[in-house]
Amino acid sequence: GNVHHYDFVLKETNFTRLCTTKSMLVVNESWPGPVIRVHKGDTVFVTVHNKGTYGVTVHWHGVKQPRNPWPDGPENITQCPIPAGTSFTQELSFSDEEGTLWWHAHSDWSRATVHGAIIIYPKPGTTYPYPMPYKEELLVLGEWYNGDVMAIIDEALETGGDPNVSDAFAINGQPGDLYDCSNASTYRLLVNYGKTYLLRIVNAVMNEEIFFGIAKHNLTVVGMDGAYLKPIKTDYIMITPGQTMDVLVTANQSPSHYYIMGSPFADTTAPFDNTSTTAIFQYSGNYTPPSTPYSPSLPAYDDKDAAGNFTVRLKSLASKQHPISVPLKITERIFMTVSVNQIYCANESCDGPDGNRLSASLNNISFVTPTIDILQAYYRHIHGVYNSTFPSIPPYFFNFTGDVGNNTIYPSQGTKVKMIKYGSVVEIIFQGTNVGAAENHPMHLHGYSFYVVGMGNGNFDNKTSPKTYNLVDPPLVNTIGLPKNGWTTIRFVADNPGVWFMHCHLERHASWGMDTVLIVTDGLANTNKMRGQPAYMPPCAKS
Ligand code: C2O
Ligand code: CU
Repeated sequence: GNVHHYDFVLKETNFTRLCTTKSMLVVNESWPGPVIRVHKGDTVFVTVHNKGTYGVTVHWHGVKQPRNPWPDGPENITQCPIPAGTSFTQELSFSDEEGTLWWHAHSDWSRATVHGAIIIYPKPGTTYPYPMPYKEELLVLGEWYNGDVMAIIDEALETGGDPNVSDAFAINGQPGDLYDCSNASTYRLLVNYGKTYLLRIVNAVMNEEIFFGIAKHNLTVVGMDGAYLKPIKTDYIMITPGQTMDVLVTANQSPSHYYIMGSPFADTTAPFDNTSTTAIFQYSGNYTPPSTPYSPSLPAYDDKDAAGNFTVRLKSLASKQHPISVPLKITERIFMTVSVNQIYCANESCDGPDGNRLSASLNNISFVTPTIDILQAYYRHIHGVYNSTFPSIPPYFFNFTGDVGNNTIYPSQGTKVKMIKYGSVVEIIFQGTNVGAAENHPMHLHGYSFYVVGMGNGNFDNKTSPKTYNLVDPPLVNTIGLPKNGWTTIRFVADNPGVWFMHCHLERHASWGMDTVLIVTDGLANTNKMRGQPAYMPPCAKS
């Protein structure tokens, strides 16, 4: 493959949306940031120059980085933040991904403004497993906050409640016609009648899953998270934060103006932004456009069935050119409850109702981010940074999705990681619970794509649930929505040694502790299975 170099200059830059001007941290003065374009098999070196005022890290979401967790990016998991005024060069290897992925900051909430797309074309001389589109377009879904996004989570942790919701969703950085002051700058996708377009859609939203559609036009979903899917014909998609989808659309309606629209799917009691962002699918030629573009009819914000019915249709292409191999003989099984909880403020400077604040957990452990990175602690045998006691089952079993009462179950707090033997065949069953507030959770794993072999409502049942598994053509993804009060089973072979973060991609849940770390090891951190530490890593204040 080829080698490419990119410079990412992180800097506070002024932006005006919704008639509000604010300075925000972005890359190369743009929001969304620059696009990385490669072919499968290429290598990229990105030099991140931090010209902001605080330390930040950048993560390459969905890039597996075989044997090389060092440039992966999550703050205090694989590296310490890049101090303001310094730079850090990160190496990205594109081994088997093909399609669309993205990059984003992985420090507190800075990813709201620090993100962009990664496009991985097929190897030179090969082509897409679907008809060549006339043109490709990138649509990055984001969230605009009038206030300082980094302050929002700090304040929420302080007051113990839910963080403020955003002021608008956005498509390619533009909120669109339905918001104040943003009519003139609405993103327009100009199309020619009869042509087919490939839309590469990235959900960079912080806290909401999104229903997306284009008025009167059918969509055909052909890829997701850097892998191909069996084509799905649909009039809407449901895309969670963290996911990317490749969608074909043919401009085959009467030439006019049609809304491209994103609206939240939020089957939750937590506050959320129930507004819609729009762009315009605009035909070229001579015609009189309607005074307002046609609108798609997207599912209602709480339409759990519409969300679920879309997600169950995701299947790997599993063709001769793009074969898959679904693991069958499991050697490591983890059952993991996923909950939103409460934590006593006693040991923290928070000031929530009844002396509690909102928190979140996996197997009833609310993750505490350490002060130096886990990768370094693992590699250099530094004790006291983490412990490897993350359990393979919850502390006790109960009717997870029954009436468990509000706020009755408090998690413990700690930096607990799960050690996984290199080469293990891993199955993780995520079980949503009704503790606190039940919600969907887009679960994401670094360093891997995984097969989603099953999904259902209610409690996972050892006898009946596995009978429903799809072991033929399950989708291969890096982020999957765990349904509210339901379960999801994923499988993968632990063939990528390293330290890999796993978390809910709703930013408020990740901040509350819905995270853990998988350390894939043969027991000898310094063997040639995992690459050695690069000559330069950003320094940790406390090491
Ligand atoms: Cu998209 Cu841990 O990240
Ligand atoms: Cu979550």
